[in-house]
Amino acid sequence: MLSRYAAVAIYFLAITPLVLSGCAMSEEIKRIDENKHSLSEKAASLSTDLNGEQLYFRSCNTCHPTGRQGPMGPSLEHVNEHFLTDAALRDFIRKGKGVMPAQTKDVMDDKEMDSLIAYVRHLND
Ligand code: HEC
Repeated sequence: MLSRYAAVAIYFLAITPLVLSGCAMSEEIKRIDENKHSLSEKAASLSTDLNGEQLYFRSCNTCHPTGRQGPMGPSLEHVNEHFLTDAALRDFIRKGKGVMPAQTKDVMDDKEMDSLIAYVRHLND
């Protein structure tokens, strides 16, 4: 009889922690998932979803007024000759140069950057 109690006691002592730690583990996974979700929501909320023209007026027009030379920046009329690929132009705008500020992903996401590039390429049409 006693050995049967002992078996039951051992069962609970051995199994219960396993089950509990399993729960703790799934709690942890749930927490990580929630965190990921809130991070992607945060990234989406930072995006203003402005179109190319709006982005240009917000971030570029002061120095390159409507694509022309301004007090602080050169004309952009040769941009298509100077940057043959969108990748090269994107790289330049992302990094900035001298007084021209870098446009990092937290101020302009990839989708906005694509719209801006399309706008800049057609400034002189
Ligand atoms: C504070 C002023 C300033 C702002 C704001 C600014 N730029 Fe500039 N930009 C410059 C200056 C100065 C240069 C010349 C950099 C150099 O070559 O040293 C330049 C150069 C460029 C060039 C290269 C032109 C060429 O044909 O070689 C491009 C393209 C450009 N800017 C695009 C942009 C875009 C797009 C934005 C907005 C996201 C922007 N700039 C915002 C000042 C600015």
